[in-house]
Amino acid sequence: MATSGEVVVDIVAASVNGADWKVREGKSNPLSRFPHILGRDFSGVVSAVGKGVRDLRVGDEVFGVCDVGQEGAYAEKIAIKAAIVAKKTDRLSHVDAAALALAGLTAICAIEDTLKVKAGETILIQGGAGGVASFAVQLAKHLGARVITTASASNHDYLRKIGADEIIDYNAVDFTKVVRDCDAAFDTVGGDVAQRSFTVLRAGGRAAFIASGAQAPKPDRSDVVALRPSVGRDRQHLERIVALVALGAVRPLEITCYQLSEAVAAHKVSESRHFRGKLVFQVR
Ligand SMILES: NC(=O)c1ccc[n+]([C@@H]2O[C@H](COP(=O)([O-])OP(=O)(O)OC[C@H]3O[C@@H](n4cnc5c(N)ncnc54)[C@H](OP(=O)(O)O)[C@@H]3O)[C@@H](O)[C@H]2O)c1
Repeated sequence: MATSGEVVVDIVAASVNGADWKVREGKSNPLSRFPHILGRDFSGVVSAVGKGVRDLRVGDEVFGVCDVGQEGAYAEKIAIKAAIVAKKTDRLSHVDAAALALAGLTAICAIEDTLKVKAGETILIQGGAGGVASFAVQLAKHLGARVITTASASNHDYLRKIGADEIIDYNAVDFTKVVRDCDAAFDTVGGDVAQRSFTVLRAGGRAAFIASGAQAPKPDRSDVVALRPSVGRDRQHLERIVALVALGAVRPLEITCYQLSEAVAAHKVSESRHFRGKLVFQVR
């Protein structure tokens, strides 16, 4: 049911995010109530509209990211605040839109809002083949930056196609030995990779982290800044995804599709952290 200000969306596709298996394992946001439905982003069709919602109608194709603290996108229907969903563009299938929702929102918050990447700057993006980083590579290129990224060798062709200027095989080369004087770094890998990312920055450089928990790691030097992007929910950022797709700046991510009944298999791949792009449930 759509309460005041909400819409009900009949979900066509929902994506798998790293947070999903972390929540399932009890590693983040420990749950006190069960059953719990995982899933943070989706694309689908509005099937009911609550009181006060004037900008969306039954039949509209929309995509979105659940509100902070809300989950439940691995489902056939979801009720969600109308203000935090956006109309899907015909240029994207529901599968593509679900794949881009949280990944795109996070990349925009990191690259544009937090790091404020500018034309002519050089950025190192760690973990280039992942969902957030694949979007970030394309966005940073669109903004006019030179993009260096890390990935295993099997993902280099993919990263070249989406615009990376330099790709480091992190299994063969220590990035701290070959990258220096970057204006910015964006880490999507976490752990030791995050901590060592400070070494590639020029004096005054800035680094953003999304795989190190709620806080950025503490820099081991005093002439750089460490930032944790704040990833809120609003329609404006989703519309920015749509605009970037319309401009041709960002293309749909590489996707592996699953049925909802294959959630165990999808989580095993997500947990392995070695795949390209996004894993998406085709719900209907
Ligand atoms: N709002 C938020 O704060 C927010 C939102 C979304 C995601 N996240 C977090 O951001 C992180 C990234 O998520 P994601 O979904 O984009 O990707 P992911 O599924 O966590 O990572 C997959 C990618 O990581 C790469 N990778 C693994 N180890 C690597 C290493 N040592 N060096 C370079 N690349 C490496 C893999 O590439 P190879 O196969 O080439 O190794 C693979 O393409 C996760 O921790 C997730 O929880 C946070």
